[in-house]
Amino acid sequence: MLLVPQCSVIESRDPSRVDLRARLTKRLHLARPIVSANMDTVTRAPMAIVMAEEGGIGIIDRGYRPGDIEPQVREVLQVKRTQHGIVRDPRTIDDNATLAEAAAAMIQSGIGTLVVVDAHGKLAGLLTERDLRFVTDSTRRVRERMTALDRLVLYEGDISLPDAERLMVERKVKKLPLVDRDGRLIGLVTSRDLVRQRRLPFATRDDNGRLRVGAAIGARGDYLERAAELLRAGVDVLVIDIAHGHSVVMERALAAVRARFPDAEVIAGNVATAEGARFLDDRGASAVKVGIGPGGGCTTRITTSFGVPQLQALADCREGVGDDVPIIADGGIKRHGSVAEALLFGGDTVMLGSAFAGTRESPGEIVQKPVVVPESQKTVKVPFKVLRGMASLEAIKDRLDVEEADLVDLQALGAEGMEVSVPLRGSARTVFQDMMKHLCSSISYGGADSLEDLRRRFRADPHRYVVRLSEASRRESYER
Ligand code: XMP
Repeated sequence: MLLVPQCSVIESRDPSRVDLRARLTKRLHLARPIVSANMDTVTRAPMAIVMAEEGGIGIIDRGYRPGDIEPQVREVLQVKRTQHGIVRDPRTIDDNATLAEAAAAMIQSGIGTLVVVDAHGKLAGLLTERDLRFVTDSTRRVRERMTALDRLVLYEGDISLPDAERLMVERKVKKLPLVDRDGRLIGLVTSRDLVRQRRLPFATRDDNGRLRVGAAIGARGDYLERAAELLRAGVDVLVIDIAHGHSVVMERALAAVRARFPDAEVIAGNVATAEGARFLDDRGASAVKVGIGPGGGCTTRITTSFGVPQLQALADCREGVGDDVPIIADGGIKRHGSVAEALLFGGDTVMLGSAFAGTRESPGEIVQKPVVVPESQKTVKVPFKVLRGMASLEAIKDRLDVEEADLVDLQALGAEGMEVSVPLRGSARTVFQDMMKHLCSSISYGGADSLEDLRRRFRADPHRYVVRLSEASRRESYER
């Protein structure tokens, strides 16, 4: 199919001027309807940071070994620490520590300024990288090199970001520690964070100005403990995603998560039918993830013959749950134009895996592969990264314990995913921004002035928009 152009009503297709807001869950909203997939070759902290900075969100995968919760928590913390309005848990160091310990803490955390506290947790000073330069005796104490309290500007109590900025400009300081009445550290505002907040007006942030991030927990094994640790680290949304979400396994998991964490945002999936979507909504999902088998690294339809074509699945699920339930259209987006289709047929947001694979921010080694140039028949080396389905043998194997991997007949596990090589292609930020430009163009062609307006118009009269393609017109449209 194609979508029939309507009379355009917007002057500009600039994404900074077109409203692209969307619901992620019943409570969380995004300025851009984009979610990066919880796959171990797609979303770790670097990808999640770009997603949130651009107005979407990334979901950290759970592709770690069972019981190995800490690495996933670390990724979440890295996102939450990237940018802040007010840093609630700044890196601190004891005033009695040595300069060598301070230098190690700076290297390990990648943070150039440590807040110095005394044995009672009271603010004692600030120590920056500069204070450590040219120091020959690193056994000296932090308190000997720090900028002490009497030379710092600080603020007692909480402060709004605009007030903090005013005070910092007036007093010409780059760091503003916040303390309680007893002088104990309760936060830190830095000029670097204030500048970054301004530069990224669409960023997805929590109430403290930190970037938002999600994480997947699965539905078996350590999932409850994993959820507890992730929530403690500040994760904004949990994703219980299993290949077949319309199942008793999911029912049990969702009930347990809801009972233990009643206020958490919990996305559940995947389903592909109205009944499946209602099943998840009735059991307390904050949003429903839709997609059985459309994914680029996915072989479910080939190996089982089950699944529903993605646009059909989205339309059915939307019909099934009505307008109040947010839907995430997960998988199968190969062209940027498909983002608009997925959002029109039922998705509030889209989840993408392969579209962001092979970028600078996707995890994984770069491998040089020989490729034959058709024109010259010469072989050249091209850099690739691997994208693999989370149900591929390779991904399953990596999640098993070493001993377990020897015992389990991997073929018998029935893989439903595969590994593909994706040529390297710059930053995910560029892919994201290009995608948003194209989405704005879709809104313009669709005769709407915002994403929400386009969805409303389409839903009111889909037949006005959809034109079926013959085989010849399909080739004319999509074969290049
Ligand atoms: P795209 O097309 O954006 O799809 O790469 C991403 C989505 O694919 C799903 N996924 C899988 N599905 N077997 C599957 O059946 C797999 O091994 C697999 N790995 C990922 C997942 O929903 C993801 O968000």
